[in-house]
Amino acid sequence: MNLDGQGGTTGGQGEGAPNIELWSRQGYVGDIGVILRPNHTSDFTSAEGLHAPHRLDIANITAPDGADPAALPIPFMVARDGLTLLISNRQAPMPFVYRNVEADEIHFIQKGQLKYTTDFGVISAEPGDFVCIPRSVAYRTTPLEGPTLSLIIESPEAVKFDTLAPFGMINYALSVKRPVIEPAADPGAETVLIVKSFDGLTRYIKPHDPLAAVALIGGQSPVWKLNLRDVAPLTYEPGGGPPWHFAATTSKNVLLYTLSARTSARPPLHHNADYDEVIFYFDGPEAYGEVNEPGTFTWVPKGVGHHGPTEDVGLGRMWMWLLESASTLRFTPAGLAAAELMETNMYGRHPSSQKKAASPKPEPALTTGD
Ligand SMILES: [Fe+2]
Repeated sequence: MNLDGQGGTTGGQGEGAPNIELWSRQGYVGDIGVILRPNHTSDFTSAEGLHAPHRLDIANITAPDGADPAALPIPFMVARDGLTLLISNRQAPMPFVYRNVEADEIHFIQKGQLKYTTDFGVISAEPGDFVCIPRSVAYRTTPLEGPTLSLIIESPEAVKFDTLAPFGMINYALSVKRPVIEPAADPGAETVLIVKSFDGLTRYIKPHDPLAAVALIGGQSPVWKLNLRDVAPLTYEPGGGPPWHFAATTSKNVLLYTLSARTSARPPLHHNADYDEVIFYFDGPEAYGEVNEPGTFTWVPKGVGHHGPTEDVGLGRMWMWLLESASTLRFTPAGLAAAELMETNMYGRHPSSQKKAASPKPEPALTTGD
């Protein structure tokens, strides 16, 4: 049986034909069960409650750091294990240095350009870049070109590259960039250091710039950046098969994939038993079903049947990433205010969805006390 044989763009295999439905463990690598059903089983007429697919435009979440340089990014989804998704709109340089001692941070740049000055040097980032700042590495960001819009993944467990082979999927020598140590503008400047822990923010006054560095004399910088366009999607000819992640935590509780355009048949109806699926549409020009606005975030919680559009829209013509979280995700009030119920056939707005206000009320700012 060809699991990828489920064609069409609007439903199953055709009017009256059975639909292939896949139930899988451990994302795409564990046990599977495949069954034919007479109906298109991802359809639902309505859903009430928290465990339902949604989509949102991240530009509709207003992060307080856009207007207030002393504020921090705003969380819009949190998982039971502490995995947190945040939005940042920073428009002015951070007036402090920031160190997250509870999580690795992966910043995905949707709009604008930012300079990251870190414990291990300076690196700039542009749209499509993932910037990884591991736990307890301090940094300060400076917008180089605005307005900026970033989605930040905070993972309590370390995130590492985890490609199938050391060559092919990512050219580590060319595509993974590390910061470069540059002379600090004023290494003796008194500096505020904000340390983020599970129970809040601690504010230090340092007598000098803690990011000032002379040289890297051992190991390599744990800070890296990689552009989504430089991650090659895997495919199994001729049907496509499942994608493969390029970064993961040791427990595999967090998996990060490219889901950019590739040669592939449409995936089958799917129940992902162990992972919530977040698909983020970075850029086109081609649409992913009903998703065609750059910055669109979609979420299908674990165990909820979904179908999903084809990824075969022409190589290089659609750029997306997929985050799988073993820990169940939930919207914060800021996320819920921007989200709309989503149908899981073509990932459009669900017919029962009431359009929310265009300007959701932001959560109170997490300020540094300045
Ligand atoms: Fe899926």
